[in-house]
Amino acid sequence: MKPESFAFLSKWLYERTGLVLGPDKLYLVESRLSPVARRFNLAGLDAIVVEIKSGRGGDFATEVSDAMMTNESFFYRDVKPFEQFKDLVLPKLLQARAGARRLRVWSAAASTGQEPYTLAMIIKEMEAKFSGWKVEIIGTDISREALERAKAGLYTQFEVQRGLPIQMLMKYFKPQGDRWLISDAVKQMVQLREFNLLTDPGLLGQFDVVFCRNVLIYFDQPTKAAVLARIAKQMSADGFLYLGGAETVLGVTDRFVPIQGQRGIYGVAASGQAAPVPKVARA
Ligand SMILES: C[S@@+](CC[C@H](N)C(=O)[O-])C[C@H]1O[C@@H](n2cnc3c(N)ncnc32)[C@H](O)[C@@H]1O
Repeated sequence: MKPESFAFLSKWLYERTGLVLGPDKLYLVESRLSPVARRFNLAGLDAIVVEIKSGRGGDFATEVSDAMMTNESFFYRDVKPFEQFKDLVLPKLLQARAGARRLRVWSAAASTGQEPYTLAMIIKEMEAKFSGWKVEIIGTDISREALERAKAGLYTQFEVQRGLPIQMLMKYFKPQGDRWLISDAVKQMVQLREFNLLTDPGLLGQFDVVFCRNVLIYFDQPTKAAVLARIAKQMSADGFLYLGGAETVLGVTDRFVPIQGQRGIYGVAASGQAAPVPKVARA
């Protein structure tokens, strides 16, 4: 791939998705985009760039940017955040929303569905407590291909072996050929939609909990700050934000504050104030 093609593609992807592609990622571009070139009968990666430059958008552009996304995900990823969700966040919200009986959770980089379905299984396990509640789990992602897989809810043996407790596999999945299909009961709890974090999430509504895990790592500081500011606007004042293990709000934004003693969970900062650290009692 010519250096000028690489430079063009990096800029195009950055503007479209926020993904930062350093010059050391040439190998990645080649391995991810060669199959796309073949699928569209193009001579190679430079030809992909020629098409984009000539304004070819639609499915072609979506396939090119989707191919550059890292969709790696697994059920109960890192375990602890989901334990906290079950033992700390949900009990807190069951109490705080006892009047409205409404809970809205956003999985903002839902990828192939493991994260929103994990949240759904946890809530399903607490079904009795949520009786009479309207619970919404919205999973969004920029990648159409990942969302198609999420909607199918069909996972390989390898995927269900990564993190999913065996009793949850037995309870909420059934074998289909050499794969595992998630039950309708869990699938129906999750709404999946295409959404780009670089755009305004206003239409998605307000959320009590947002999982935005393992996506900010691909963005630069200004993009991280802008994404977090937009998410903050969509959250209730007592809401909870989850980031991935390698991500933080510290040094990025003052819209969120770490919740003491709970790694990876953040509360919404009171507007206009320097971020106070909420008391542990928040939990
Ligand atoms: C590594 S996966 C993380 C999946 C899941 N949150 C987890 O922690 O397992 C990152 C996801 O972010 C999505 N993504 C990247 N840029 C995005 C953007 N601008 N808007 C929405 N999703 C984006 C990718 O398509 C990919 O599915």
